[in-house]
This record gives sequence, C-alpha cells and structure tokens, in this order.
Amino acid sequence: MEMSRKGFVCGAAALIICAARPLVAAVADEDARIDALLAQMTLEEKIGQLWQTNGKPSQAIEAEDLSKDRSGDRFLADVRAGRYGSLIGRRGADGYNLLQRTAMEGRLGIPLLIGHDLIHSARTCFPIPLALSCSWEPELWRRIGEAIAVEALTLGCNWTFTPMSDISPDARWGRIAEGPGQDPYLASLLVPAMVKGLQGDDPADGRHIAACAKHYIGYGASTGGLDYYAVEMADGTLRDVYLPPFRAAVDAGVATVMPAFHSFNGVPCSMNRYLLTDILRGELGFDGLTISDYQAVDEMATGHGVAERGADVAAKALNAGMDMEMISDNYEKGLKAALASGRVKIETVDNAVRNILRVKFRFGLFDHPTVDVAALERTIDFPAHLALSREAARKSAVLLKNDGVLPLRPGVKVALVGDVADSVREMRGCWEHGDMSNITNTTLLAGLRADGVDVTYSSCYKLDGALDEAALRAAAADADVVVAAFGEYWGRSGENRSVTRIELAPVQLKVLETLKRAGRPVVAVVFGGRPLALPELDREANAVLMAWNPGGAGGWGVADVLTGLAEPYGRLTVDFPNATGECPKVYNRMTTGRPSEPTARWSTHYMDIPFTSVYPFGWGLTYTTFDYAGERVHADGDDMVFSVDVKNTGDRAGSEVVQVYVRDVVAATVRPRRELKGYARVWIEPGETKTVQIRVPKARLGYWVDGSYRVEAGEFKAWIAPHSDGGRELTFRLAEKEKEM
Ligand code: BGC
Repeated sequence: MEMSRKGFVCGAAALIICAARPLVAAVADEDARIDALLAQMTLEEKIGQLWQTNGKPSQAIEAEDLSKDRSGDRFLADVRAGRYGSLIGRRGADGYNLLQRTAMEGRLGIPLLIGHDLIHSARTCFPIPLALSCSWEPELWRRIGEAIAVEALTLGCNWTFTPMSDISPDARWGRIAEGPGQDPYLASLLVPAMVKGLQGDDPADGRHIAACAKHYIGYGASTGGLDYYAVEMADGTLRDVYLPPFRAAVDAGVATVMPAFHSFNGVPCSMNRYLLTDILRGELGFDGLTISDYQAVDEMATGHGVAERGADVAAKALNAGMDMEMISDNYEKGLKAALASGRVKIETVDNAVRNILRVKFRFGLFDHPTVDVAALERTIDFPAHLALSREAARKSAVLLKNDGVLPLRPGVKVALVGDVADSVREMRGCWEHGDMSNITNTTLLAGLRADGVDVTYSSCYKLDGALDEAALRAAAADADVVVAAFGEYWGRSGENRSVTRIELAPVQLKVLETLKRAGRPVVAVVFGGRPLALPELDREANAVLMAWNPGGAGGWGVADVLTGLAEPYGRLTVDFPNATGECPKVYNRMTTGRPSEPTARWSTHYMDIPFTSVYPFGWGLTYTTFDYAGERVHADGDDMVFSVDVKNTGDRAGSEVVQVYVRDVVAATVRPRRELKGYARVWIEPGETKTVQIRVPKARLGYWVDGSYRVEAGEFKAWIAPHSDGGRELTFRLAEKEKEM
C-alpha cells in the first residue's frame, strides 16, 4: 500500500484551516488514534459512522438552507450527534464547512466524508473515461485526477466515486462510457494512475481527495449488457480479466471500494463475503472502507430477494464486509437487533468503523476538517485545467479511417452539419455537473472557427430525428468538404442506459447517402459514449474520427485533430463490432476448437457478417504511415524482450503505439487467442526508423487455474503489432523452470 501514513502533516500548499481536537491530535500512530477514538464511542455513534445519507429531507442542502430551514436545523443536530459518517452530494464550499464544523462540535468531533460522483468533471469537464482510455496514457489520467481533486474540494467534496474500474466487454451496456475499456492489462495501468492523481502522494496535503474503485466486481459482464443484471462468472475469468484493475487500485492505495449492484454467481455483491472479505481484504490486502452502491444494501431485500429488511439485511451485508451503507438505513435500523441476537459481533462493527476512521485520518480530516476555498481557488490554475482538457480531447480522439481528406487543407471551405456539432452539452458527456464557473465550454463549430477554418454551419438533421434534405444538399453544394456529426446523443450512455441497437439511427444513413450523392468528400465525426457499429461509415465516408464525448474543451481538441494542429493520438480500447448481435465482442476472446481465423465454413463465425471487427481493439490511424520490420523476441533474465524496427514511411511526424500480444499455445485450460502484454508509444520523424523494445516480465504471461496463478512452460505465440488483429506471428518458449513463478 502506498497511501501515505504521514497523515497529520500540514503540507506547504495546505490551505485547510486547522481545527484539531486535543483528544486525537496527541496520539501519533494511526492505529492508536483509531483505537483511542473507538474506545470512547457509543454503539449509536459507531452505527452512525456506517451510514452515508443524502441529507434528508433535501438532497442539495447548501449552507443557506441549513441555517434557515427547520429541517436543516434537525439535520445539523443529527450531524452534531454523529448520526452519519458520511454524506453524498455536492454541498458547496460554505455548506461543506458548516457541516464539518457542526460534526466537529459533536461529542467526539468526528469529521464527515462528503462524496460525489466527480467522474470526469468537477468544474473543468474532461472527456468521458472511455475516451480518455484511448490515450493509452496513464500519466494523463494522473494529471486529470489531480485537477479533479483540487476542484472537488472547492465544491465541498473530499471524496469521489471514481475511478470506475470495470472491464467493459459489451457495447450495449451504457456504463461502458464510464470505464477504462475492455483490456485488463491497460486498465490496470490507467486506474491506479487516476487513484494517484486524486489521492496524491500525501492525501492529507489539502489538495487531494479520497478515490473509490468501483463497481466491485464483474459489473460490466452483466447478462445481455443489461444494467444491474445478474453475472455468472468462472473464478479464472474473475481473476484474469475483472480483478486486475481493482488489484492495481488497491496497490496504489485506493482509500475506498464500492461493491456493485448486481448478484455475482447468485450472491449480491453487497453481501458477497467471498468477494468483499476473502479476496478484497484477504488476498488484495485492502485496508480502506467499502461503501455500498446507492441503496444497494436495501436492494438485497427489495430487489434480489435474499434477505429481510432491517436486521437480516444488516447482518448479511456487514458480516460479508460492507462497511458503509449508502442512502438506505438497514444498519441504522437493524444493527442493534442483529447485535442483540448475536448474528453480528461487536468486533465486526468495530472493524467497519475502524476502516472508516482510517480513511478520515489518512486524509487529514480530523486535523483540517474545513477548507479555505477562496485561498485554495487562488492556487488553482483553471486555464491550465482547460488546456489539459483540450489536450485530453486531442489524445482521446481516434482516427478510424482516412483516405487523405484529413487533415483539412488550409483554405478549404467546410460545411459543418448535424445538431451535435454545435452543442456544448453533447461534448460534455454522461457525468458532467453543469458547473461551468471559470470554465470555457466549446463546440466543434467553435473549435473549427478558433483554428481558422472557413466553416459554415447548418444543423440540417438531428442524430435520431428529422432531416432537412434540401438544406443538407445546399450545405454540401457550397463546400469543398463536408464535416458531418454522427453517433449517439450523450443521454444514450451512462448508468442504466443499455441499448439493443449500436447501429447508426436510420436518419444518419440517409444523411450519409445524401452527402455521397452530393459528391463532396465526407468527414464523419462520431460522438457518443460507447463503441458503435459503423460499417456504413467505414465503407462510404472519406474519413471517420471517433470523438466520443470529448469534454468541455472537446470542440477545440477535436478541431485540432481535424485540422492537423494535433496529430491523431488515440487507439481504441474496445472493439467496434459490425452489428449489435455480436455483443459482447472482445479481441481477447477464447480460442475454439474451430478457430475463426481465417473464416471457413465450419469455423466459429456468424453467417451474415465478417468475424473481424470493423475496427479492432488497438486500432487508430495517424496522418503518417508506419512500417514494421524485423520483429523478434528474446529472453533476458526475468523478462521477454520484444523488438521491432518501425519506420515512418509518410511525410509527417507522428506517434505509433507499438503493441505486444501473446497467446499461450499449450496451456492447462483454454486461453484467449491474443492478450495485450505490453506497449510503447514512440514518436517518429518522416523517413526515420526507430527500434522499439518492449520488456514483458515472464510473470505477466501467466493466468489463474485451479485457484493459483501459473506461468507455464512451453510454446507461446506473439505479435508485435499496431492493433489486435495485426502483426506477423512470432513464437517463443518458456523453459521448464518458469513453471515455478
Ligand atoms: C451508481 C454509482 C454512483 C452512485 C452514487 C449509483 O447509482 O451506480 O456509480 O457512484 O450511484 O451516486
């Protein structure tokens, strides 16, 4: 665990007002401080710590409401009495300070954790996480985490429920937008980087907040891509595919983990002892707090039907390892009875309280419970955050196709069409908070204008509705190139926004057809929060750029890529299937007895579509071209070293993401056809050749079988490739002794 244990040191940049309680400040060691406090707590106070409320009766209680309103008075009295350990929702800085001061006035002075979903935006809005994952750049995730953390403090939050660490194989699932894509190795680099950004090296320095790895676990594997739905999963799949990002988050010191809504092999995650205690605490060594998802503890009774409300629910969840109940009140109402009947031991309650207090101590909340927002704001470089958002949008966009029409030539006359091309809201995506103070928000139209493009805009059509064909024809007739927005509205992705159609809406096919008939080159800019089936665009458009929901500065960032001010940088972290019927579709699918490559009559395939994806995992073009030659692999101590000579054969500089895929050829159980095991981004000038070396620890080549992680001796295949369907096949062997690793 890398979370700082310094705990109580006021960092140089700390702007938090000190209001330490003599009781705890005197005790140096974290565990001793926790025990000292615990020893003084009544049972009611302990149970209070286990509850996160939304501040009934009103969710959005700001400082003003709290001081005027009678219900606010009652609420503050409850806070003072220690009835809650945590609140959910943004409180505003004044509300935050009032609540923390009130909590500190209580008998024992225990500060509140105040959490909110600041997933990709606090004040500055960044691209959605799925978009950000296409950067393949952990450092970008860390920098964005830092920006979100310090902005969150100004909004009255010391905790955010991010990063979503769910592997997402299914394009139908709306929450694929919130996650790091479909690959466990890449996700295990991105997720901990966000944790480090949010929490910092010293979580108590007054500029960082608690992160939350969620939704533990297997949420993205729900049957049929339906949100909240049941998951059945083999133990090997759990450990090889879904656990690695959580393991990486815990290793990075994540303070909190949120178990998911769904049932896992028949047992809701909220009461799944195997997941919450055996694996999370026992194997991963997590020592922070677990927080239920929204009313998920209650849903054990009201939805899943595996417990009775109150004491039964409380006993099952707490005994399994759920420390804090979000919103619903089974712990509050039922724990005393569960203790009295002996179903719950006081030690179990104490342990949960300990986990919660530990996080509060580590984030310095006892010593610095309030925030001097004015002073903090003076230290925040908001223009730099905006520039970071623009950089992130540039790095998230993936160039899927280009016949040479991009980058837009200087002086070219552009017709921009489609309603989303001039919508700020559509840029911002599923977890924006509409807090735009100090922050500029752009559209694609504004971005193209800012980049000096001669652009005329007319909406002409809605993504899912009416098309003004005459206007579209007229727009095209007047232009050299048409830049047309396609895809999905932001409201089709995010929580509980699963769909059965990832194809473009019929009106968009009509737009494409009309533009083709108009005879002008078509640049399709695709917005949305999920992989889409784009065979028609791939066939008909001259260029296709996946822009996602690129954030508040997204209009600029996407325009920068279209104009060539920025080189295309993104690579897909999800497959783009041919049709919804293929979902879930992943590049790292298991091999079969009748492998689908090449497609043959009796091989695994669909009759009516190609087996390969329209755009596979790892795919992404640039404005130049690269040649791979001399692929080779050799062993060097504990590593395999993959080398390739990559030549820039075009006339622009560009960056290539060289990817290493491996298959275990003689394994104890069936293994994926390919798995990403390493990658490197390399910048290459025109005509230049660079030798790229990627070291992969042999220990990374194993997998879980019969409850243990094995690296097997024998033959492996490997590909050093620009994407998951490419590359020349290499073979290598691991010697017998590697078996022991
Ligand atoms: C979502 C979580 C979120 C929580 C709190 C739930 O509905 O599943 O991702 O953190 O609400 O807002």
